[in-house]
Amino acid sequence: MTTDYLIIGSGIAGLSLALKLSRLGKVSIITKKHSAESNTNYAQGGIAAVMDSNDTFESHVADTLEAGAGLCKLEAVEKIVTEGPEMIRELIEIGVKFSKEHGKLELGKEGGHSKNRIIHAKDLTGKEVERALLHQIKINRNISVYEYYFAIDLLTPRNLKKPYDGERACYGIYALNVKSNKVEKIIAEKTILATGGAGQVYLHSTNPAIATGDGIAMGYRAGCNIANMEFIQFHPTSLYEAGRENGSGQVFLISEAVRGAGAVLKTKDGKEFMHKYDKRKSLAPRDIVARAIDNEMKKSSDSHVMLDMRLIGKEKIPKQFPNIYKYCMSIGIDPTVQMVPVVPAAHYACGGIVTDLWGQTNVKNLYASGEVTMTGVHGANRLASNSLLEAMVFSDAIFEKISEERKAKANDKGLSDFDSKRKKMLKTVHDNVLNWNDKGTINNEEWILISHNKREIKEIMSDYVGIVRNTIRLERAYRRIEMMKKEIKDFYDKTKVTVELLELRNLVAVAYLIIASAMQRHESRGLHYMLDYPKRDDRNFVKDTVIKKKFKRAKRPNDSKIN
Ligand code: FAD
Ligand code: SIN
Repeated sequence: MTTDYLIIGSGIAGLSLALKLSRLGKVSIITKKHSAESNTNYAQGGIAAVMDSNDTFESHVADTLEAGAGLCKLEAVEKIVTEGPEMIRELIEIGVKFSKEHGKLELGKEGGHSKNRIIHAKDLTGKEVERALLHQIKINRNISVYEYYFAIDLLTPRNLKKPYDGERACYGIYALNVKSNKVEKIIAEKTILATGGAGQVYLHSTNPAIATGDGIAMGYRAGCNIANMEFIQFHPTSLYEAGRENGSGQVFLISEAVRGAGAVLKTKDGKEFMHKYDKRKSLAPRDIVARAIDNEMKKSSDSHVMLDMRLIGKEKIPKQFPNIYKYCMSIGIDPTVQMVPVVPAAHYACGGIVTDLWGQTNVKNLYASGEVTMTGVHGANRLASNSLLEAMVFSDAIFEKISEERKAKANDKGLSDFDSKRKKMLKTVHDNVLNWNDKGTINNEEWILISHNKREIKEIMSDYVGIVRNTIRLERAYRRIEMMKKEIKDFYDKTKVTVELLELRNLVAVAYLIIASAMQRHESRGLHYMLDYPKRDDRNFVKDTVIKKKFKRAKRPNDSKIN
């Protein structure tokens, strides 16, 4: 297959970009499950944007910088904040129905925000956004969506019969067509990674099963710079349910908007505790609240703390938070009369593939947007509801960049001349890319090893690289993950690919990147808390913990499975 623009991922980053790029050429979206399955679809609280005359850009910028604990990139923060209102208008234009109050957008509040500025659709914001975007995609004739296609690796000069670029360039991907079980090559002028986060690297996460960090791992293997992976955000309030370790480990989120509406954290015996940790109490930024809960649980040996939602009001809860109310009721907890058991869970990757203000990676013709990236917006800790906003703003920036480049290349000969040249160029590249070659590999029957390995990675990460860390734990985790990385690579080299094997290969790569980043930061900052370096070190600190892949010479020349 050849396409002008190839987008991997069908969350807010991928879909919003596809709609815009469809004005410039043919867009193909590939996605590993059905198209709605994404972190986006589970987003609850909403999208932060300055939409009220009592609010200011300066205030949203200041709150983002404060949460980011000294590591945010100012230009990136200013970009998302100032473009936020336009993004909200675009979503309304394509049919997103946000909650309203007296005919105006209803503005919620979340931790770390000094103003009410969260635009939401009740407590199902992501689902509503995903619905509207997918509807527009469906009726757009320039966009094709390929569901159950799993991106394996980016096509780089190492996958060419005759290399003609430097070491770092991208021509598309190899993807496993899950239904036919065949690996196909997809060639594109521009490839965009919009593959989301990596919460599945931990035992308990608010992220669905798709969030295995595939884009970060693929980007790393192709030579992208990866940064700040130590900053994994644990959401303070996932619902505590017995037997939660079943299945993928996805846990139900109790939105921070609930605390914004008045709910308060308490110990099991009903005592408030957040005043001991921060003057903003239950509405302090997430790193502070999650650490406080962790500390209270360690002190009491309890498996969870409680969230008192009753303070919001009996009538308001089902109206404002129908999804949360319904779920709690379905497991026998009535939040209008009982306290709700909650515990922190892995939620968001602040680090990822380094991109500039235009979503460009350091690999030619490869862009990235959304949770897969490190744009500099979040620094050491993401401010609530800045993620959907960041994804939209940077996808828009990618569109602007590609559009500008197309115009500049077309020159005086015109855009149609450029577009026909592009067709020829894609054909030449297609013929020069190696077909997938898995000669000598077998259908390994040892599938149990994969599930054991997956479990082991999650346990190592949860035990040693969680909310509170120290050097001994990180070193122990590093040794174990290094060993597993080698074992999994050996297994991968000998085995025909399956979704489970590909996810395992990516999970171990992401675990490695998180630990390797964490080991570089000898201080406590934002989401990275080290017992042996308990203070923030503003004089002697690493700005970004960048990890670059060193390329080894390929063992077998002309091999598609060499990355
Ligand atoms: P995603 O929405 O995760 O989409 C990634 C896509 O890539 C998926 O379609 C996936 O199938 C596909 N994919 C991944 N790997 C491959 C592969 N190898 N091959 C093919 N396809 C692949 N943020 C906010 O700002 N506000 C909120 O209220 C909010 N609430 C949240 C609540 C929950 C429960 C969760 C989990 C997150 C929440 N977040 C929130 C964070 C936010 O939802 C995500 O950061 C954001 O949706 C990421 O969007 P994305 O497009 O980058 O990735
Ligand atoms: C939530 O609703 O608490 C999640 C918001 C976010 O992750 O930004």
